Amino acid sequence: MKLLPAGRVVVIGSVNTDRILRCPVLPAPGETVLATDAARGFGGKGANQAVASARMGAATHLVAAIGRDAEGEAALADLRGAQVETGAVHAHPDAPTGQAIVMVDPGGENSIVVLPGANARLTPDQVTAALARLHLLPVDVVLTSNEVPAECVRAAAAALPAAGPRGGTRWLHNTAPAAELPGPGPTGRRPLLVANAVEARQLTGAATAVEAAHALARQGEGAVVTLGGDGALVVSDGALTRLPAPAVRVVDTTGAGDVFCGALAARLARGADLPAAAATAVAAGAFAVTALGARGALPRPEDL
Ligand code: RIB
Repeated sequence: MKLLPAGRVVVIGSVNTDRILRCPVLPAPGETVLATDAARGFGGKGANQAVASARMGAATHLVAAIGRDAEGEAALADLRGAQVETGAVHAHPDAPTGQAIVMVDPGGENSIVVLPGANARLTPDQVTAALARLHLLPVDVVLTSNEVPAECVRAAAAALPAAGPRGGTRWLHNTAPAAELPGPGPTGRRPLLVANAVEARQLTGAATAVEAAHALARQGEGAVVTLGGDGALVVSDGALTRLPAPAVRVVDTTGAGDVFCGALAARLARGADLPAAAATAVAAGAFAVTALGARGALPRPEDL
């Protein structure tokens, strides 16, 4: 049997510092609630995905923007410590590092507000240059999401090499936060779409998660819809696979979707097929909810 080399995971996404507030209930509009305690953590969907991917053993690169400030420096040091390659993380002179206020209730449910800061200053040219330097190979996986400008996602799509007869660099797009779906790049490549059930229904108008998964899959190269404690749905080549999640004690669901995406990308870069990679990602997402903070519990392969 001929073994394929492992691919790299290239994440194009956000870097934030998270201010985490534990609340007895999540505030409704117009309501004030008193938090019971507070913590700081590293966050940002892109950075969380990159660290999760590296932790799962993939050579991982992050293309992102931070501020030229203490928060940016700390975030960068943390990424490097997590073995994420940060050569394409740009320090912006005029914008602060992104920030998020994350409120978590006793059931682990969250509400998040993000101030994008430098994330909004990432440019398509920076994305194009970073991907050109990496010389993408068919075994590599590019992962995009919506906390950076949509033009950066389009620049990533445009940089994907045309697929050969045995496929090409895989493109995963995480639809978080929900925003218009990216169209195909100039070489015709479309993303594998990864959405949670709320985003999937918002984006497709479908009444159920199953219908939404099929509708999303028709707009991409397949779709994965995460269902929290109920696992995930995978639609690949028109066929639906249901993946159950292990039962775990939920402390905080923040970042579980990011860990799911990072693990999914890492397994695909190792050559796993989509249902197998998604099954590992479900287990990784379940592991992630067992501690406070987006990076409180990041699994290694042996933890799963
Ligand atoms: O998905 C969780 C992440 O969303 C947090 O880390 C926060 O920074 C926001 O980007």
